[in-house]
Amino acid sequence: MKIVVVGGGAGGASFAARMRRLDEKAEITILEKTEETSIASCGLPYFIGGVIDNRDDMQVAKPAFLKQLFNIDVKLNSPVSEINPDKKIVITNNGDVYPYDKLVLATGAKPFVPAIDGIENLPHFVVKNLADADAIKAFIAQNKPKNTVVVGGGFIGVEVAENLCHLGIKTSLVEMAPQVLMPLDEDMATLIHKEMKRHDLSLYLSDGLQSVAWDGVILTSGKKVAADMLILAIGVRPETELAKKAGITLTEKVLLLPMNICKPTIPISMPVVTVWLSKILFPANRP
Ligand SMILES: Cc1cc2nc3c(=O)[nH]c(=O)nc-3n(C[C@H](O)[C@H](O)[C@H](O)COP(=O)(O)OP(=O)(O)OC[C@H]3O[C@@H](n4cnc5c(N)ncnc54)[C@H](O)[C@@H]3O)c2cc1C
Ligand SMILES: NC(=O)c1ccc[n+]([C@@H]2O[C@H](COP(=O)([O-])OP(=O)(O)OC[C@H]3O[C@@H](n4cnc5c(N)ncnc54)[C@H](O)[C@@H]3O)[C@@H](O)[C@H]2O)c1
Repeated sequence: MKIVVVGGGAGGASFAARMRRLDEKAEITILEKTEETSIASCGLPYFIGGVIDNRDDMQVAKPAFLKQLFNIDVKLNSPVSEINPDKKIVITNNGDVYPYDKLVLATGAKPFVPAIDGIENLPHFVVKNLADADAIKAFIAQNKPKNTVVVGGGFIGVEVAENLCHLGIKTSLVEMAPQVLMPLDEDMATLIHKEMKRHDLSLYLSDGLQSVAWDGVILTSGKKVAADMLILAIGVRPETELAKKAGITLTEKVLLLPMNICKPTIPISMPVVTVWLSKILFPANRP
């Protein structure tokens, strides 16, 4: 039995490890497009801020570990560009072909970056993987920015802003809702607003990004905020291009896996299916 998992993030890697526990003999391969598998996304903002200083600590389960402990083969730098369900193969950008009996798509989500007027005027970054964090760290080290604007007051925006403040960079956070961290009640968010201001963070609530100039951003309120660097943390969207291309039926929030592509013939206990489905179909990355 050949099991191919596309995506070696939290969902893909934990699915593969669980699969090994259920089937000792299966050939399990993870195809991951980046240079790392199973990174600690939650630590990325703190890696940027230098709170986590060892880059190695950001990789929870390296390929050698997955091979040694679970006999899982991980192929890095292997973006899958095509699925052929009839031939039961996937093909990577590099032209490598992997046959499968069972295929799992665990491609996660990608940062949402809308068209923004003038965005080319300022260096701007998203925070999704280690390469993004490396790029932000390198930019800060080389250019020593004085003012940063973080757009989006969700978890990523708030945590990145916290770390930019920690680095001593004057930081402004722009959030279109009346509070940061929308899942929190207003009274709890108020405490966070106070704490942010105590750390000299400038908070712009009920305001959005209108356009970008060479020396800062213009908000929908008309206010101008100085910036020599911009972080976009305005949400994520499911990474579904590959599934769409393969003709897999998608709905707004649910990725339906047709049985011919992924039929769990191996006896899988319900909790596993639930974990798997919740990771792949309902990641924290809701649109
Ligand atoms: C900065 C940041 C901080 C976070 N902090 C927290 C936190 O504190 N707590 C929390 O619960 N959650 C946190 N999250 C969210 C959490 O990381 C995600 O919910 C989780 O990683 C989702 O797992 P996943 O496997 O579905 O997707 P991902 O972890 O994104 O993995 C998907 C993988 O698929 C790969 N891939 C995509 N397309 C292809 C392709 N065509 N071929 C091959 N590989 C492909 C990607 O490179 C990626 O490695 C954070 C996320 C970020 C970005
Ligand atoms: N601690 C954790 O559990 C944790 C940490 C980091 C990330 N995550 C998850 O990662 C995913 C992505 O996080 P995120 O913070 O990017 O997304 P998010 O959707 O949680 O937050 C995005 C924020 O940006 C705001 N926004 C959108 N467009 C805007 C605009 N034009 N101007 C100003 N504000 C705008 C939204 O109102 C929202 O508050 C989420 O699912 C999140 O739950 C979780």
